[in-house]
Amino acid sequence: MNVAIASLIATTAKLVCYFSNWSRYRTGVGKFLPENMDPFLCTHLVYAFAVINHANEIDEYEWNEKILYKNFTELKNRNTRLKTLLSVLEDSNGPQFSLMVSTPANRQTFIQSSIKILRSHGFDGLDLDWEQPGAGGRPAEDKQRFTLLCKELSEAYRAESKGRSNTRLMLSAAVAAQADVIDAGYELSETSKYLDFISVKTFDLHVEQDRVTAHHSPIYSKNNANIDYVMQHLMERGAPAGKLLLGCPTHARSFTLSTTATGLGAPVSRPASPGPYTQQIGVWSYYEVTRTYLRSYI
Ligand SMILES: *[C@@H]1O[C@H](CO)[C@@H](O)[C@H](O)[C@H]1NC(C)=O
Ligand SMILES: *[C@@H]1O[C@H](CO)[C@@H](O)[C@H](O)[C@H]1NC(C)=O
Repeated sequence: MNVAIASLIATTAKLVCYFSNWSRYRTGVGKFLPENMDPFLCTHLVYAFAVINHANEIDEYEWNEKILYKNFTELKNRNTRLKTLLSVLEDSNGPQFSLMVSTPANRQTFIQSSIKILRSHGFDGLDLDWEQPGAGGRPAEDKQRFTLLCKELSEAYRAESKGRSNTRLMLSAAVAAQADVIDAGYELSETSKYLDFISVKTFDLHVEQDRVTAHHSPIYSKNNANIDYVMQHLMERGAPAGKLLLGCPTHARSFTLSTTATGLGAPVSRPASPGPYTQQIGVWSYYEVTRTYLRSYI
């Protein structure tokens, strides 16, 4: 999946695009590497994802992945205004984010390792993709500790660039789009002070995947699973509008229909078969949708 996050605030227009670590495993025209990216399409490119290792340091997900970091950040040689960030994800295998934020020493280890990895590979900043602090039976204190982490990262990045020719490293976070997760996980008015921008995952919002068809990233809808509701909620909880970036998916959720009805709300029997390139059940990329559409209708 490639996802673009856009902010249309005129003075600080940002178009932040994610490059996924799994797109390189696709075959044929689906294979996508850093050198296939157009460095002029987005203002910021985010490499997704790095992880946190058992020593509380940020690390590559797969052995030998760092060779891709170089090609990724070297896109700046072609567009000198481009910024690149490295995104660190909560690994589904373990509560490593929770452990890392739990003590001041662990946080410092992580913070210093982030400066090292970002500077040595030419990244301009770090993106924190811890979607659910305090969720899944982890400590409720995760919420306050996430704020502390952001505060300490921001202070360390400021100190690291002070009196040097280095530009300060940027700090951003990607946040969930479910109101209950937002309320349980983030102290938005406080945390926002330390973040350069906040990317909102306003996609995959339709949860009744198996029953009826629906848009997964609608602007409005009859329930609360829509962009308007999520963005309003984040602002009510203290996130400044000028830092919020709206997530725009370039993937579709796909269904196998169970009746002859084809519209919104049509009954479905299951998610659709995998697309030819992305090979994921119930998810098709933009280029798989348009190719299929062309095949069926021309
Ligand atoms: C990409 O990274 C994520 C998280 O670090 C991981 O879960 C996923 O399996 C990786 N994909 C591949 C194909 O390596
Ligand atoms: C990095 O880019 C160069 C030049 O485009 C290419 O030859 C090389 O295969 C790339 N390396 C990786 C690991 O993608």
